[in-house]
Amino acid sequence: MQNPKRYTITAALPYTNGPVHIGHLAGVYVPADIYARYLRLNHKDVAFVCGSDEHGVPITLKAKAEGISPQAVVDKYHEIIKTSFEDFGISFDNYSRTTAKIHHETASGFFKDLYEQGKFIEETSAQLYDEEANQFLADRFIIGTCPKCGNEESYGDQCENCGTSHNAQDLINPKSAITGNIPSLKETKHWYLPLNEYQDWLNDWILKGHKADWKTNVLGQVKSWIDDGLKPRAVTRDLDWGIQVPVPGAEGKVLYVWFDAPIGYISSTKEWASRVGKDWEPYWKSEDTNLVHFIGKDNIVFHCIIFPAMLKAQGSYILPENVPANEFLNLEGNKISTSKNWAVWLHEYLQDFPDKQDVLRYALTANAPETKDNDFTWKDFQARNNNELVAIFGNFINRVVVLTNKYYEGIVPESKDLTTLDQQTLDQLAAFPEIISSSINRYRFREALSELMNLARLGNKYLADEEPWKQIKTNPERVQTIMNVALQIAAGLSILCEPFLPFTSKKLKTILGIDALDSLEWQSVIDRKTLISSGHQIKKAELLFAKIEDKEIQIQIDKLEATKQSNAEEILEPQKETINFEDFTKLDIRIGTILEAEKIPKTKKLLKLKVDVGIDIRTIVSGIAESFKPEDIIGQRVSVLVNLAPRNLRGVESQGMILMSDAPEGKLCFIEPDKNSVANGEKVS
Ligand code: MF3
Ligand code: ZN
Repeated sequence: MQNPKRYTITAALPYTNGPVHIGHLAGVYVPADIYARYLRLNHKDVAFVCGSDEHGVPITLKAKAEGISPQAVVDKYHEIIKTSFEDFGISFDNYSRTTAKIHHETASGFFKDLYEQGKFIEETSAQLYDEEANQFLADRFIIGTCPKCGNEESYGDQCENCGTSHNAQDLINPKSAITGNIPSLKETKHWYLPLNEYQDWLNDWILKGHKADWKTNVLGQVKSWIDDGLKPRAVTRDLDWGIQVPVPGAEGKVLYVWFDAPIGYISSTKEWASRVGKDWEPYWKSEDTNLVHFIGKDNIVFHCIIFPAMLKAQGSYILPENVPANEFLNLEGNKISTSKNWAVWLHEYLQDFPDKQDVLRYALTANAPETKDNDFTWKDFQARNNNELVAIFGNFINRVVVLTNKYYEGIVPESKDLTTLDQQTLDQLAAFPEIISSSINRYRFREALSELMNLARLGNKYLADEEPWKQIKTNPERVQTIMNVALQIAAGLSILCEPFLPFTSKKLKTILGIDALDSLEWQSVIDRKTLISSGHQIKKAELLFAKIEDKEIQIQIDKLEATKQSNAEEILEPQKETINFEDFTKLDIRIGTILEAEKIPKTKKLLKLKVDVGIDIRTIVSGIAESFKPEDIIGQRVSVLVNLAPRNLRGVESQGMILMSDAPEGKLCFIEPDKNSVANGEKVS
C-alpha cells in the first residue's frame, strides 16, 4: 500500500542457541533497523518488533551438548543477543522472548482458535522414532539426504542447502541426530495444516498480486514450492520443550517451533502496546497497516507460505505487504558456521572495536547480500572504513568544522549572494532525501547508502571547487557564503545518515550543536529549510571516524586462521590398515614414572627424560617440550614403548618412546593409569 496509516516491521526471531554474528546483522537486523529508523524520521507510526526464538530442537540439542537445561540455554543467550542488538543500535520497539507468558497464551490461543474453527486435519501415522533415545525424531533431531538437492545433511523439516521445507519421512537414509541410529517407525497423532487447500489462494495472492514489488529471489522460491504442490504440514511435535498443545488428547505434545515462533511477532507487539498504552490490534488487523517481514533466505517458506496460511486460516489478520528476504553473507570465502566457529560474533567484535558499531553497520550495508550471496572480508571492511568513511564522509565534516572554528570561532557565518554553483549545490542537497527514500522504499539499502555517500562527495567537491582556504585571503566575504553552504550540507548529512549510522548522526549533531532541535527532520532537507542558521555556535572538531591500521586487521585475520587450523585438526585420521594379533604382541608397553627432565639445548621440541620403567631406569628423548615445562612433569606417570630400537637424537641415545595423545589447541597429553597404585613396569596390553 502506498500510504499506509502504520507499519508493523518484524525481524526474524533469532534462535537462542548461540550468540548473533555479522551474517544475522547484515541479512536481517541492519536492513530492518534502517527501514524502521527511516520511517520514524518521517513521522510514520511504526511498531518494530522482535524477540528470542526459544523453543525448538536447536535449543534442546544445545542443552544436551552443554549438559544444562533448555531454560538455562535460552536464559544465557537471550541476554547476550539482546545486549548485542542494543549495542549495535537496533532500535526495536520491543524485544520479547517466546518463553514469555504472553507468548505462550497468544500462541496457544491461536492454535485453539484454528482447532475450534476446524482448520486442522487430525491424523495418526507412523513417524520416525529412535528406540535407544526413546523419542520421536522431528526436525533437527533427524538428518538425512535432501530429496530435492541431494545434500546429505538436511534436517527433518528443512534443507539448509537448497532451502526446501519437507516432512521428515521424505528424507533419504534418515539417521537420528541423537544416537546416529537408523530410526524405526512408530504411530503417533498430530495436527496438520492442510497447505494444499491454500495453494490456489497463495498463488493468487503472491504470484498474481505481488509480482511487481517483491524481490525476485523471494518470488522464485515461492513459485518453485507452489509448482511442486503444497502438502499438509504437521504443526505439532512429540517433544517436551515447547508450548503444550492446548487440546484434549495431546499430552506430551508441543507446538511445532515454526508454528509458535512467527506468532511471537504478534505477542511482541502485544507486549509493546500494553507497555506504551496502545492498542495492538490495528497493527495486525487493520487493512491500512503495512506488515513487513525482514528475514534471511532460509526463512522464506515460513514467511511467505506457512505463516500467511495460518493468518488466512484464522481469518482476522492482515498479510505481509512485503518480505524482503536477503541472501547469505559468507565470511572470507566460507559459509558462516556456528558449529565451526566460523563467524565474527558481535560481542567479540565490540571488544576489539569498541565505538565502531557504525563502521560495521556501514560495511555490512555497503556489501549486503541483497540479491546474491556476498562475502565479508576484513580487508574490505578496512577499505570501506579508510577509503569511504574516513576519506569521504569524515574528511568533509572535518574540513567544515575545522574551518568554521578557524575563521569564525565556530559561529556559522551569514550567506550573502548565492552564485549559480551555490544554488545548484543547495538544490542537489534538497533532492537527496527523495533519492534515498526511493531506494529505501524499494528495500535497496545498499543503493540508498551509496547515495548518502554521494552527498558527502558533493560536499567535498564543493569545497575543492571553491577553495575557501585560498579565498580567505583575497575574498573573505565570499568565504562566509561558502562556509554557510558547506555547513548546510553537513547538517543535511547529520539528518540523512541517521537510519544507517545512528551513532555518527548523534555525534555529528552534537558537534554541530543541533542535537536538541526536534524541528530538523527528513522533510526539512526537502523543504530547503535553513538547517543551521547564521550566528549559531558549533563545537570544536572531533574525529567521526578513525583510520583502521593493517595490524588491527591482521589480528582478525589471524584469529580466523587459528579457527581454520583447529577445525582442520579436529578431523580425525581414518583407521590404519588391519594388523594381526601377533603384530600387536610384539609391542612391549609399560607403565613408568618420569624422574628427571631437561631441555635439549638448541631444540624447540625435545626433552631428555630419565624414566623409571620398572625393569630399569632409562633415558628417553621425547618431543613434548612445546606442551610441558621440564619442572612440571617430574613424577608424571606415563606409558612407555620399551622395546623400540634405541635411536640417537641430537647426540642422546633414546631408549624407548613415551605414548602421547593430542589435546586441544595443539597441546599433547600423557596416557597414564587411572589408579596411582599401578606399579612401574606393569604391562599395557
Ligand atoms: N529462529 C529462526 C531462525 O533463526 C527464525 C524464526 S522467525 C519467526 O532461522 F518468524 F519464526 F519468528
Ligand atoms: Zn536440499
